[in-house]
Amino acid sequence: MRILLTGSNGQVGTEFRKLGQRTAEIISTGSRELDLTREEEIRRFVRDLKPNVIVNAAAFSDVDAAERNWDACFAINAMAPVVLAEEAHRLGALLIHYSTDQVFDGNKSEPYTEWDPTSPLNVYGASKVAGEEGIASSFARALILRLSWIYSGQGENFLRSILRLANHNNELQVANDQVGAPTSAISIARATERLIRMYANSRKTQFPTGIYHLTATGATSWHGFASALLTATHQRRKPIVVPISTTEHSSFARRPKNSLLSCQRFLTTFGFQLAPWQQQLNEVLAEMMVESAVETVPGGNLILVTRPD
Ligand SMILES: NC(=O)c1ccc[n+]([C@@H]2O[C@H](COP(=O)([O-])OP(=O)(O)OC[C@H]3O[C@@H](n4cnc5c(N)ncnc54)[C@H](OP(=O)(O)O)[C@@H]3O)[C@@H](O)[C@H]2O)c1
Repeated sequence: MRILLTGSNGQVGTEFRKLGQRTAEIISTGSRELDLTREEEIRRFVRDLKPNVIVNAAAFSDVDAAERNWDACFAINAMAPVVLAEEAHRLGALLIHYSTDQVFDGNKSEPYTEWDPTSPLNVYGASKVAGEEGIASSFARALILRLSWIYSGQGENFLRSILRLANHNNELQVANDQVGAPTSAISIARATERLIRMYANSRKTQFPTGIYHLTATGATSWHGFASALLTATHQRRKPIVVPISTTEHSSFARRPKNSLLSCQRFLTTFGFQLAPWQQQLNEVLAEMMVESAVETVPGGNLILVTRPD
């Protein structure tokens, strides 16, 4: 099984690269190896490589920057996935592509299902909708997994920011009016690997395709996530985590208040689900050896105004 992985330096891509190397031939690409803004380059690369599976973990994922970089955002999140899908279709390969809760406006009071209409609030969400729709019309054998609130023990993300800032602040102010399910990148990578194994052992034409929601089980707010994180890591000196509303902070792009995705369709189809968010958090923290991973920042109170995706 030959797998082409894009976004191999990102949160999900890094974890998938580390995991998958044990069992498959993975050709890992970051933006230096394969620039997803270049259509002809993508086509040539895929045609030369002839992968059985393409895992597209690359994205223009800076939600605020997307508001000002419409062209690049749509190239990477909409054009590239469609080109990958067309090339996958040409080869008879499977495309696994990641999308986001931000295809929705967050006004629903229940978790979103795959049948809810999309209505993005920001450029990033609109570009991901365009990617989904383009893949659907390519006729490729494609699985689109909508994810939400991804974090990992490396790189820049909510968990790492909170840990870093908590070591030098007595008070953190974190939004408590957005609800979601914090999901570790490693859990997504494991699920992806498992899906590829299922695919390898299936009759290819009968393998399920389409859009599926895939997040940790359970729900919390950013405030709840930060509180649980610091309870686990800062037992001697825990900063006060003050709940604030989203309107009190100044992030550029609008974000959904409700990011909860129902994963029932995924469970029914594939027979497994991801662990509860608290369990995932404990696992990531155990692997991080938190105290050695934190960095120093200047003191003062924190107002957390942005989050990744
Ligand atoms: N993060 C979240 O909270 C979240 C939530 C829901 C859905 N998602 C989706 O889940 C997927 C994985 O997210 P993630 O958080 O793992 O992403 P990430 O950490 O932001 O990584 C994205 C990767 O995309 C690559 N990339 C950017 N521009 C590129 C270009 N022009 N050509 C090729 N590669 C390029 C970057 O590669 P280089 O580093 O090599 O430049 C980067 O490592 C994405 O589809 C994202 O939209 C994420």
